[in-house]
Amino acid sequence: MIVTVQQHILQDQKRFPGASGEFSWLLSGITLATKMVQARVRRAGLSDILGDAGDVNVQGEIQQKLDVYANEALIHCLSARASIGVLASEENEEPMIMGHCSKEANYAVIFDPLDGSSNIDVNVSVGTTFSVMRRPDGVTCEEPQKWLLQPGCKQIAAGYVCYGSSTVLVYSVGNGVHGFTLEPSVGAYLLSHPNIRMPNQGKYYSVNEAYRDGFPPGYNQFLDRLRQGGLGKPYASRYIGSMVADLHRTLLKGGVFLYPPTSDHPKGKLRLLYEANPMAYLVEQAGGVATDGKRRVLDLQPEAVHQRTPLIVGGQVEMAEFLRCVPHEM
Ligand code: AHG
Ligand code: MN
Ligand code: MN
Repeated sequence: MIVTVQQHILQDQKRFPGASGEFSWLLSGITLATKMVQARVRRAGLSDILGDAGDVNVQGEIQQKLDVYANEALIHCLSARASIGVLASEENEEPMIMGHCSKEANYAVIFDPLDGSSNIDVNVSVGTTFSVMRRPDGVTCEEPQKWLLQPGCKQIAAGYVCYGSSTVLVYSVGNGVHGFTLEPSVGAYLLSHPNIRMPNQGKYYSVNEAYRDGFPPGYNQFLDRLRQGGLGKPYASRYIGSMVADLHRTLLKGGVFLYPPTSDHPKGKLRLLYEANPMAYLVEQAGGVATDGKRRVLDLQPEAVHQRTPLIVGGQVEMAEFLRCVPHEM
C-alpha cells in the first residue's frame, strides 16, 4: 500500500482527540521546502549556484549559495503557517518572530537548512535538520528565546531530510521513527522505512580521527576497543563529514557516531538546538543512546540558540562500552 507522509501524519495525529490538523499543516511546510531544496541540490553541478554567496554566517564560516536558498525556502514555506510563532535557523543570528504571531501560534521550528554544505561541490550527500518546540505556557511572542531555549526532551517532533542517492525524510512525533523516500516523478514522499529500529550493535564507528590527539581522556581508548575487536568483530570506519548522512547510516545500520570536544572546538562543533537535539531525539526513539560525554543530550538546558555541544550517538552495545571508557551519568 502506498502511504504518503501527509497521510501518515494525519493518521498519527488521530492519537490525540481534538487534534486540529495544524501539525500536519506545519509539517507540510517542511516537506514543501525540502522538495524545493532537493530540486536545487540535484541541479547543483549544472547551474551557476556554486561558490560563496559573498556573505559569512553567524559562526564565521563561508556560506555557500545553496545555504542561502535553502534558508529562504524554509522561511518562506513556514512563515505562511499560522500555527508557527517563532523560527530559528543556523543562518540567522537572531530568532525570527512571525508577523502573525498571536494566541493561535503554538510552535517554534528550529532548523539547519543545509547541513554539510561544504560537500556540495564534490557531489556528496547533504541534509536539512529540524526540531519543533511548543510555546511554553504564558510566554508571549516578544520572548522568542523562551520558546527556543528548552531542553531537547521537550521537542514534540524532529527530523531530517538526507539529499543522497535518493531524497529521504526521516521524522518522529514521539511515536517511533519513520522514513519516506521522495518519488521524484510525482513529487511525493512515500513511506519506505516504517518504524526504524537502530540495531543494538553495528559494524562501523564514524568520527573525524584526524582530531584524535585533542579528544578528552577515554575517547581514544573507546575507539581502540572497537578497532581491536573488544566488542567482537573489529569495527571498520566510515566518515562522510556530513552529519545527516553519517547519522542516517548509523540509524539504519547501527554503530556509533562521534563529534567529541577537540583542540579547535573544545565544546564540540555541532549545534545543540538544530543538529544534536533532533538527532538525539530520533536516535532515542529508535532505541539508541545520545550523550554529550557528560550527560544525556536531551536533558541539556540550552543557554543560547547557536550553542555547540559534543555529540556521541550509537546503539546500546557501543554506548555501554563508551560509558565504561568515559564514565558519566546517563
Ligand atoms: P554545516 O554545513 O551545517 O556547517 O555543518 C557541517 C558539520 C556536519 O555536517 C559535519 O558532521 C561536520 O561539520 C564535519 O566537521 P569536520 O570537517 O570537522 O569533521
Ligand atoms: Mn550543520
Ligand atoms: Mn548548515
